Amino acid sequence: MSETTPSSSDDRPVILVFAGSLRQGSFNRRLAALACQRATAHGADAQLLELADYPMPLYDGDLEEAEGLPDAVRALKARFVACDGLFIASPEYNGFFTPLLKNTVDWLSRRESADEPPLAAFADKTAALAAASPGGLGGLRGLPHLRVLLSGIGVQVLPKQLAVGGAGDAFADDGSLKDGDQAAALDALVGRLVDTCRKLRRD
Ligand SMILES: Cc1cc2nc3c(=O)[nH]c(=O)nc-3n(C[C@H](O)[C@H](O)[C@H](O)COP(=O)(O)O)c2cc1C
Repeated sequence: MSETTPSSSDDRPVILVFAGSLRQGSFNRRLAALACQRATAHGADAQLLELADYPMPLYDGDLEEAEGLPDAVRALKARFVACDGLFIASPEYNGFFTPLLKNTVDWLSRRESADEPPLAAFADKTAALAAASPGGLGGLRGLPHLRVLLSGIGVQVLPKQLAVGGAGDAFADDGSLKDGDQAAALDALVGRLVDTCRKLRRD
């Protein structure tokens, strides 16, 4: 697990890119990897995260009271605090985003002490959302819920989003999206995220 705190020059916003899936063959992890490449190409300090590197128990208030925040939560939270933006590729489970994402957000939303500003991992961050699914809608139905969750804890979520349907056949062997329109839409979404984060860093 990396516990390094990202740093970047003023013009290179730090973007954390990750998927809401742990699955080895995850389509959303593929989409995240691609988004990370595009963010780098747009001049960001883009960092691909694997949530598997930050294993967290299911949130339990008794556990938190007894032991404080788990090490993985503290390590991941430090990375969120230090970043400017998030790119999240989320699977859709029964019309929702995944419990992995909800549990991660819940832990990261917790304060270690009263001195810590509330929601330090999320306040004033900017996020772009995407999804991939073997289904025809590409996981689109889960994204409004994720948008509401993040918006409610201080994240500015970009209006545009991307859903990649038929994901089993959407990626070429080199990891790129076969469909040119989808590839262009991903590039535009990531470009908007990087540009917005860059402008906000200057404020
Ligand atoms: C519990 C569960 C519920 C699912 N519900 C949906 C759904 O509502 N819509 C959909 O498009 N796919 C649904 N799927 C299929 C997922 O989109 C598919 O498993 C996808 O590959 C998961 O993302 P990943 O490849 O990034 O792991 C569901 C899968 C699981 C395990």
